Amino acid sequence: MKDEMKDTNQTGSDRWWKRAVIYQIYPRSFADSNGDGIGDLQGIIAKLDYLEELGIDAIWLSPVCRSPQDDNGYDISDYQDIDPMFGTLDDMEALIREAERHHIRIIMDLVLNHSSDEHRWFQEAKKSRENPYHDYYVWRDGVEGEYPNDMRAAFGGSAWEWVPALQQYYFHQFSVKQPDLNWENPKLRQEIYDMINWWIEKGVGGFRLDVIDQIAKEPDKKITNNGPRLHEYLRELSRETFQKADLVTVGEAWGATTELAKLYSNPDNSELSMVFQFEHICLDQIEGKEKWDLAPLPFMKLKEVFERWQTQLCQKGWNSLFWNNHDLPRIVSRWGNDGQYRVESAKMLAILLHGLQGTPYIYQGEELGMTNVQYEIEDYRDIETLNLYQERLEKGYSREEIMRSIHAKSRDNARTPMQWNDGENAGFTKGTPWLRINPNYREIHAESQMNDEDSVFSCYKKLVRLRKEYDVFVDGDFRLLLADDENIFAYTRTNGDQTLLVLCNFYDTTVSYSLDEDVSGMELLVSNYRDADETGTLRPYEARMYLKK
Ligand code: NOJ
Repeated sequence: MKDEMKDTNQTGSDRWWKRAVIYQIYPRSFADSNGDGIGDLQGIIAKLDYLEELGIDAIWLSPVCRSPQDDNGYDISDYQDIDPMFGTLDDMEALIREAERHHIRIIMDLVLNHSSDEHRWFQEAKKSRENPYHDYYVWRDGVEGEYPNDMRAAFGGSAWEWVPALQQYYFHQFSVKQPDLNWENPKLRQEIYDMINWWIEKGVGGFRLDVIDQIAKEPDKKITNNGPRLHEYLRELSRETFQKADLVTVGEAWGATTELAKLYSNPDNSELSMVFQFEHICLDQIEGKEKWDLAPLPFMKLKEVFERWQTQLCQKGWNSLFWNNHDLPRIVSRWGNDGQYRVESAKMLAILLHGLQGTPYIYQGEELGMTNVQYEIEDYRDIETLNLYQERLEKGYSREEIMRSIHAKSRDNARTPMQWNDGENAGFTKGTPWLRINPNYREIHAESQMNDEDSVFSCYKKLVRLRKEYDVFVDGDFRLLLADDENIFAYTRTNGDQTLLVLCNFYDTTVSYSLDEDVSGMELLVSNYRDADETGTLRPYEARMYLKK
């Protein structure tokens, strides 16, 4: 990293990633340079100008390491090589270098809870119980057909898989091709640290840690998330690797509470920079059931969840801010309106999120207001979606009901190729795209939005710049306003004399409000309607962000 990109203060509020906006790339769907229908590293290099224009500081790259692609790269068979589908190690080094020229850091996705079953370690491990790699994975003795317990894998079926030659089961929290790694083994941990340090040497700017709160599993007690040794492992991991450089680290932690998040993102830098927590994102499902069991968004609860995370982590930790990633449906279709008010609601959601305290993440295409798709089952590619379809058919659900869930929540909603222009295959590939392109690409694409100051893209661009301009975005205290209002999400952020005021109508009707705060002396920083009507009403999805200096 260049000196100007370095930050010597390891703990203070001026850590670079507190002011940063991070952009997630799902490589296979971003840009294809060689016509095989799959995005690749050279494709990303070709789009760095676009990303610099948007103003982002870092790219979180979903996995590009060698992988049989059972779970689109979240099943790694060699952590120190690039999958030929994406390019070569030289391409990766070129990407790190070229990105740096565009003032962008590269954040790698580390999948440390499990490897691929095609990883050399697992190939060795299943040879014999005495093999030195055997203990890199989680095994239990047993009898064929009688599982050690009834734990289920996230993608369906038992979490145990029988290996006849060993007369043992191995544990897998995801697919059978993703055996869980045994973090209790210090040798495994050391190999992982060596691998991470090798990537740090290559100049990466940080890491996103896949399902990191599941590494300290204890299957005999049916513990998956938040195992007793989790924070011990994280502190060792951080000490042995991350703390040696000025990196951003973000852990995926589905089981995080605000209390746990204060440990993970302790300002003393002993674990991680921040975590992705999912409390807000899990609200529109029937409580205690799966994400496929749809329920309307309880808006008041959403406000309460944000308020709690904003106030409790203030000065004690650090939030990540996101609506989208490669596992989630598109936010404009989910909680906005992808019909008449697509542009207004996409901007409203952006304004709401980017005024909060934390590091915002933009998922590719979110900055264009890309939407969900409603395909027939044949057009889906995601292992989770396809398994769910079979499993629910077998359980007697109707096809219509299953497809309703899939249209709302399938991970492929976020994975359709990036819409660059209105030409062939949306400018994504000259070949046949690996996943069908959203048919609305002729209307929604980057080319038409980049020079249009009213576009969703321009709104995101403005928000990214504002975060760098005013300290209040980083340091301001959060206060929820209009707490009882059932349509409006409003808050202030205050830092000394600076106050940011954000007002968002979350719904498609015009609503009125009355605020104690006087906006007459404030500057309107950004809004999603051309003329700001300041008479106490908000039009459908209207959002405004004001600043008092
Ligand atoms: C979380 C990742 O985001 C998801 O895409 C993946 O399937 C699982 N972890 C398993 O690695």
